[in-house]
Amino acid sequence: MTTEPSSSGAFLEIRNLCKRFPSGQQKLTVLEDFDLTLKHAELLAIVGRSGSGKTTLLNLIAGLDRADGGSILLEGRELIGLDDEDWVEVRQSDMGFVFQFNQLLPEFTALENVMLPGMLRSRDKQALESKAHDLLARMGMEHRASHRPTQLSGGERQRTAIARALINDPRLLLADEPTGSLDLESGQRVLELLFRLQKELKISCMLVTHNPALANLCDRIHQIESRSES
Ligand SMILES: Nc1ncnc2c1ncn2[C@@H]1O[C@H](COP(=O)(O)OP(=O)(O)OP(=O)(O)O)[C@@H](O)[C@H]1O
Ligand SMILES: [Mg+2]
Repeated sequence: MTTEPSSSGAFLEIRNLCKRFPSGQQKLTVLEDFDLTLKHAELLAIVGRSGSGKTTLLNLIAGLDRADGGSILLEGRELIGLDDEDWVEVRQSDMGFVFQFNQLLPEFTALENVMLPGMLRSRDKQALESKAHDLLARMGMEHRASHRPTQLSGGERQRTAIARALINDPRLLLADEPTGSLDLESGQRVLELLFRLQKELKISCMLVTHNPALANLCDRIHQIESRSES
């Protein structure tokens, strides 16, 4: 995508973002005049109470849901107002996603799961396979490449999901409680690998977590305040 450098030098700049959901006769205001800046290669923890709008925020950045107002600048390019086709393009070329439940496809091996998002963009299957192997190796998963998700532990599944999120060389990684379904020890191991890769590849990353110990390992923490119904 073509981009202009942001005046502030930020990678992602969110200003006055608003999101309301219908709630019976009323509207539930989840985000109001929400501001956030993410620098290049920064690892930002997003924390906040359940229901404060963390997932909503990631969905708005990813274009999976539409904002009611405000601005989202990705390297100076305004994303709010893009049509569906352009959003898909931005998502596929610039963003990677990791969710709490990894959403790996059960009928495919770990390697195939990692390759899948790449197949939408590249026809060179051999190069893609070698890249998927490399990412799995970086996540300490090379020895499990031919296993299916049901044959993997929870932590291994999340490590595979992270490799999958990185197959298209995203510049922005959005991770929504990627270790929320794991015990603390395997969660920590998964995040250590993620953090190392994020620094090596210089990816800007927003990580939603409920775990203060994990948030403290990030470069910076942004707390989302809960809003009340209006
Ligand atoms: N599609 C929707 N329709 C109506 N309300 C919604 C919708 N999606 C989210 N909400 C509401 O918006 C608020 C924020 O939800 P969100 O999922 O962003 O919270 P969260 O901070 O991610 O919480 P958690 O930590 O539990 O995952 C919640 O009160 C939720 O009920
Ligand atoms: Mg959530």
